[in-house]
Amino acid sequence: MNLTETIKHEHLELLRGVESIREAGDLIGVTEDRVWKARVNEVLEFLQHQLIPHAKGEDDLLYPNVGRLMGSPDATRTMSRDHVEVMELTHQLERGMEEPDQRMIRRLLYGLYHIIRLHFAKEEEIYLPLLGSLDAERAEDLLATLEAHL
Ligand SMILES: [Fe+2]
Ligand SMILES: [Fe+2]
Repeated sequence: MNLTETIKHEHLELLRGVESIREAGDLIGVTEDRVWKARVNEVLEFLQHQLIPHAKGEDDLLYPNVGRLMGSPDATRTMSRDHVEVMELTHQLERGMEEPDQRMIRRLLYGLYHIIRLHFAKEEEIYLPLLGSLDAERAEDLLATLEAHL
């Protein structure tokens, strides 16, 4: 797989977890409390141990390269800001689950879901095509670094 395929593939693997965020929101108030709470705890696991590490890997390795290609290190700041928002909302969700209020938990889950879906679309539709213009050697290097990190 080349660089863009590898990143798309990683997103594809994360997508099931992203959908489970919305599904957990749909269950709140519909199922017994213990059922939806267990699902929200799975969502938290996914966010903390899969999605956020993926985002941090991008901040460290991927975005600096995209920034160079776009001619400015500031070019990816809006994307990193999305990551910060996801981390903040995850934190709020974790805290919220200590004494869960159904409406607030649902709001956080749907908010996270839409921010992440839009963020993935921006990466795939706008940033990945740019990486296609890297010369072969640099693309290889970046791929090797990303794979070592994953
Ligand atoms: Fe990202
Ligand atoms: Fe990503």
